[in-house]
Amino acid sequence: MNRNRIIQKIGFNPAFLAVFFFFLFLLIGKIAAEQTGLKENNQGPALMPVPAKLEWKTGVFRLDEKFYVGGEAKADSRAFKAVSRFMFRLAGRTGMFFEQDFLAEQKINDLTRFFYKFERPGQLVPGEDESYILEVFPEKIELQAKTDLGILRGLETLLQLLSADSQGYYFPCVRIEDKPRFTWRGLLIDSCRHFMPVEVIKRNLLAMATVKLNVLHWHLSEDQGFRVESKTFPKLHRLGSDGMYYTQGQIKEIIQFASDLGIRVMPEFDIPGHSTSWFVAYPEYASAPGPYRIERGFGVFHPVFNPANPATYKFFDEFFREMAALFPDPYMHIGGDEVEALHWKENPQIQAFMKKHNLSDNHALQAYFNKRILKILTKYNKKMVGWDEIYQPGLPKDIVIQSWRGTQALIDGAQKGYQGILSNGYYIDLCETTERHYLNDPIPPDSPLTPAEKKLILGGEATMWAELVSPETIDSRIWPRTAAIAERLWSPQEVRDVDDMYRRLKVINLLLEEIGVQHLRNQEMMLRRLVGSENIAALKKLASIAEPIKGYARHSQGRKYTSLAPLTRFVDACFPESLEAREFRKMVEEFLTTRRPESASRIYMYFLELKDIKAQVAALAEKSPVLREVVLLADNLDKLISISSEALSFIMEDKKPDASWLETSRKKLEEIKKPKAECQLAIVPAVELLVKSLNR
Ligand code: ACM
Repeated sequence: MNRNRIIQKIGFNPAFLAVFFFFLFLLIGKIAAEQTGLKENNQGPALMPVPAKLEWKTGVFRLDEKFYVGGEAKADSRAFKAVSRFMFRLAGRTGMFFEQDFLAEQKINDLTRFFYKFERPGQLVPGEDESYILEVFPEKIELQAKTDLGILRGLETLLQLLSADSQGYYFPCVRIEDKPRFTWRGLLIDSCRHFMPVEVIKRNLLAMATVKLNVLHWHLSEDQGFRVESKTFPKLHRLGSDGMYYTQGQIKEIIQFASDLGIRVMPEFDIPGHSTSWFVAYPEYASAPGPYRIERGFGVFHPVFNPANPATYKFFDEFFREMAALFPDPYMHIGGDEVEALHWKENPQIQAFMKKHNLSDNHALQAYFNKRILKILTKYNKKMVGWDEIYQPGLPKDIVIQSWRGTQALIDGAQKGYQGILSNGYYIDLCETTERHYLNDPIPPDSPLTPAEKKLILGGEATMWAELVSPETIDSRIWPRTAAIAERLWSPQEVRDVDDMYRRLKVINLLLEEIGVQHLRNQEMMLRRLVGSENIAALKKLASIAEPIKGYARHSQGRKYTSLAPLTRFVDACFPESLEAREFRKMVEEFLTTRRPESASRIYMYFLELKDIKAQVAALAEKSPVLREVVLLADNLDKLISISSEALSFIMEDKKPDASWLETSRKKLEEIKKPKAECQLAIVPAVELLVKSLNR
């Protein structure tokens, strides 16, 4: 019925129809004009992260198949391989058949037009120089850096600079002097709640490199799985992983792959809590008697290591000896978050131990445990990293505190001389907006820290916790939003223009596909599976304005999520943030400011695109019961279209709705906001703006 009303308004009222088409023609002309305007008014290529210093020059470097690259890197070195990858990507994007055998020869000669030069190989440690200078002249390109890492970062910038016009491909002339604001720019991947095969890790490493991230924080043990082959304690992976673990060969392969991309790999073994899977194999190191089973649910659980048992430390000594040799990174992350102390409380031996050692509470007991673990790590030349719960006075100053609960832990730590990295605000599993993450700064402008204390804030990490992601969906939860976090961690603090970030993000979103990341393409595959045919247009349109509900809300919608639950439903196919809804909101805001009739027509046209979705989704659901829940969401959309078209008509006809229409609409909007199929319609806030404008 509601749908009919908009058809009536748009289709059957002759006066309205005349006005509508008049403005439609105006609009078409306007869009054409804007497109040409955009070309003339060059906003520049989409660089993300924005370089520290950039100076556009006049002219362009025209790309042709005689594009020869030359440098002094050895054939199997990091820089040589990076330049080869660069050339493959350039050829792939432009369709050019380059003359040079860039895999065999990158020597400088008379043909060379792209010169790269660096002083020394970089070390994969915090604080290493990643700066570069990139100059594009009409006749040549020069890339110089202190280390090969700088070359890698500069190559990514150059690829982002590639432009095209009717004459062909070119690089705009420019001088860029770039270096990162923060030295620790990471992405945490949780391979435990859901196992992520090697190819998932590799393609995300490639994507990380494109936006200059340099740390893979690999979460490798949890209640739900122990994911590393241990030769010392093989029962750990055999019994604790359902057969889903990385062999040591695979780990080495990934570390080498990451190293070639200038990315560190820091492992995390989360102890003493979050540790059920270890106890399936070794219940003797737990605080309560077993037997234990691998945890399937999500949350915080009771199993916890026994800090009062001397054998626990002997076990960890041998365990970390093995892992310290396997992972070359100078840092080892020991987790330390969310320790549930019930089993400590219930164990009389642990209680007696606490009394004997004057450990007044559970925090003190965990601190004792951490100190013993720290000794072991130090023996094996590793520095300790942990979540903010590990902080305690007296720890050595080379540890790193990773703040997940808030920025205060970072501030407190820095004021006492401790290094820190920020993850609070970068929890990409919560499906929040890119804008929210983008504006979250490890050192905000109003930071109370002194310049010396600020130096202790090493950077930040996006965290991809894997309760609700599978190998099929993880890319879409990470990308493109993590590119904006990468910019926050690399670019100067003043780079904060949200609209410009979204403009560039749209471009980067597509560029990311080039290296194989599946954040976009998997959506259509998932929708086809849901529909059981190629007839996905309606569902795809609905997905373009639907978002998974935010935060942890999906866990309280009546379904119990476990590691075994399907992550193949409509909600899983939706992107965390609807970029289309953001554009729609801009459209509505523009209309409310200007009241231009052509803006109203634009909105009407947009709703026309949406108006058949409900009927189409309902028809699909007849044959695909898995879509029944989505019909409810489509029904909400239908109601939303109805309210919007009525509101628009009031505005355009300059009429005031009566109080009862306002009240009914408000109530309907409240209903529409309730999640359906664990999704929300991302265009609701814009419609609310329309309705609210009638209140005045
Ligand atoms: C965490 O999110 N518990 C580190």
